[in-house]
Amino acid sequence: MSTVSSPRPYREAFESFWHPVAFSHELKERPLPFQLLGTDGVVWRTGSGVAATQRYCAHRGADLCHGQPSAEGLRCGFHGWTYGGDGRCVKVPSQPNAPIPGKARLASYACAERYGLVWVCLASQPAAPLPEWPELEDGSLATVPLPRLDWDVSAGRMLEIVLDVAHLSWVHDGTFGNPEQQEVPAYDVERRPGGLRAQIQYPALSPSIGGMAPRVDRTTLTYDVTLPFTVRLAFKPTLFYTHTVYAAASPVSEEKMQCFYFASYHPRIRNFGDMFVKSELAILEQDRRIAEGQRPKAHPLDFAGEVHVRADRLPIEYRRAVAALRLGQPMDAPDTE
Ligand code: FES
Repeated sequence: MSTVSSPRPYREAFESFWHPVAFSHELKERPLPFQLLGTDGVVWRTGSGVAATQRYCAHRGADLCHGQPSAEGLRCGFHGWTYGGDGRCVKVPSQPNAPIPGKARLASYACAERYGLVWVCLASQPAAPLPEWPELEDGSLATVPLPRLDWDVSAGRMLEIVLDVAHLSWVHDGTFGNPEQQEVPAYDVERRPGGLRAQIQYPALSPSIGGMAPRVDRTTLTYDVTLPFTVRLAFKPTLFYTHTVYAAASPVSEEKMQCFYFASYHPRIRNFGDMFVKSELAILEQDRRIAEGQRPKAHPLDFAGEVHVRADRLPIEYRRAVAALRLGQPMDAPDTE
């Protein structure tokens, strides 16, 4: 097993990926601030879509989240300098007939809106596409977003707890877990371009509406990870019903994340939306208490100081994949016993 030597700085390792910074419904006529990988930014609606730049004005450092989107761009509230989506200043009202200084520009970021989320990539060119969740765009499902989760947890730790099969019977006792089903069935993890997939036949969960439905004898859990910090988890307790949750952890910094989390289900049970939100929040609160207490706080890049067993395979494979992104090293296998 190799040990970690020189990881790339956290921002450098993940800046070329898309990360969510807001739910679409949160971004209205006012700009919204965000923090991503330690960088302060602002996002706003343009006439044709969304745009993102650095948060503070190039003139005197005013906070552009108090600015005003206009037809020309984002107008700073201090002296009216206006910036296009590419970050260039297009207007200096105090001297309209003079050339605009070339340095009057903001760092600008790739910005896109999809699946009810606003996504930002801090690098000039995204290294990978957005997750592929076509079922969210064909109108076949009802979707409910949860309030944004603001946890004192690294994005990698957040993903690991979602991918942790063995914790279901322990942490989620009282919601959807089954304390009598502690053994994790054997399963495989498939490496896919840009992610991981695992399918587990799990006995005796209460997967529908977060434990408010009767326990079923067998549920198929399908985990689809899009690296670095996004996962879709489908619960399929019967042939005719699937309940799916989506977790997109946004790395605020190396030790903190915000998670954009939502659930989809058959539209015929649309009226249960509030119940879904309530039960998912109860489940996630159980996870938060565990994840915020883990040490080290930063997502470990190797397997030193921990012991793994085969039941941990999915979070192990995930950590190996994220470490490879960070380190640019070949992934090697951890010890299991
Ligand atoms: Fe923004 Fe002056 S500080 S225009």
